[in-house]
Amino acid sequence: LDPTIDLYGEIERLRRQRKAVILAHYYQDGEIQDLADFVGDSLDLSRKAAATDAEVIVFCGVRFMGEVAKIVSPGKTVLIPDAEAGCSLEDSCKPEAFRRFRELHPDHLALTYINCSAEVKALSDIIVTSSNAEAILAQLPADQPIVFAPDRHLGAYLAKKSGRKMTLWPGSCIIHEQFSERELVKLRARHPQALVAAHPECPEGILRHADHVGSTRAILDFVLASAAKEFIIATEPHIIHQMQKAAPDKTFIAAVGMDGSCDCARCPFMARNTLEKIYLCLLNDAPRIELPEDLRQAALKPLQRMLDMSV
Ligand code: 13P
Repeated sequence: LDPTIDLYGEIERLRRQRKAVILAHYYQDGEIQDLADFVGDSLDLSRKAAATDAEVIVFCGVRFMGEVAKIVSPGKTVLIPDAEAGCSLEDSCKPEAFRRFRELHPDHLALTYINCSAEVKALSDIIVTSSNAEAILAQLPADQPIVFAPDRHLGAYLAKKSGRKMTLWPGSCIIHEQFSERELVKLRARHPQALVAAHPECPEGILRHADHVGSTRAILDFVLASAAKEFIIATEPHIIHQMQKAAPDKTFIAAVGMDGSCDCARCPFMARNTLEKIYLCLLNDAPRIELPEDLRQAALKPLQRMLDMSV
């Protein structure tokens, strides 16, 4: 790509010309968050994708998020900057294996985390995100047996909070698995006034130190509403960009891995997206998300249930 190109100007020109909306997850690089029309968590982004009147959605996140946009907005062109932006949770749960897992538990309802492929969604009963899972669980009969996939840490957290027995798929997120409990205890000792906010994809050893557990938006809301001045953030550290913008007087410390650095918590899939690739996808009209219509409709059912059951 010509290094003298004015990427901001070109993206702006193409965004208008294509009647495009740029959606970005909080885990995206700060410069992508800053040029997006909307930055949000998985639930808010799927609602935005369903409601937009734009003709083109540029989804800056990972592939399954683009798929969700296409599932709920089939008439729109959905572009993603990098077709290889996957997800370790999605990779851990292949449709055939998930089908067999369901067959082992025929009387169970399949509650499935949105971090999965369209094929796995199509095999599920209700999709959840980390921001609505507790509220959706509370609407199900207490004696309803449940399988939960693919994140075992979120599943274990939900089982504990709700007091329900849930059969868990053994998947996890590679970046949330990296946080070190030993290092978190040391960070807390060095910052005794700091509150800990953690994403429920973190293992139990991290969550037990958390003052607040929630989705990316819930964590952001928590730090903004709190009277505290210092926070340790146990999720992908790019969300700190929004925190610093909204509360420049507060201090945000990224939780770290065993090497004492937060580098291992940066999502390598989210990091594939760049300004250059946003420009190129708008220019080339590719990569595009395309789904067979029968798969799209099958995946829409459990997603629509989620949207209907979320406040
Ligand atoms: P939320 O945005 O729902 O908190 O989920 C984070 C995530 O895992 C994105 O892949």
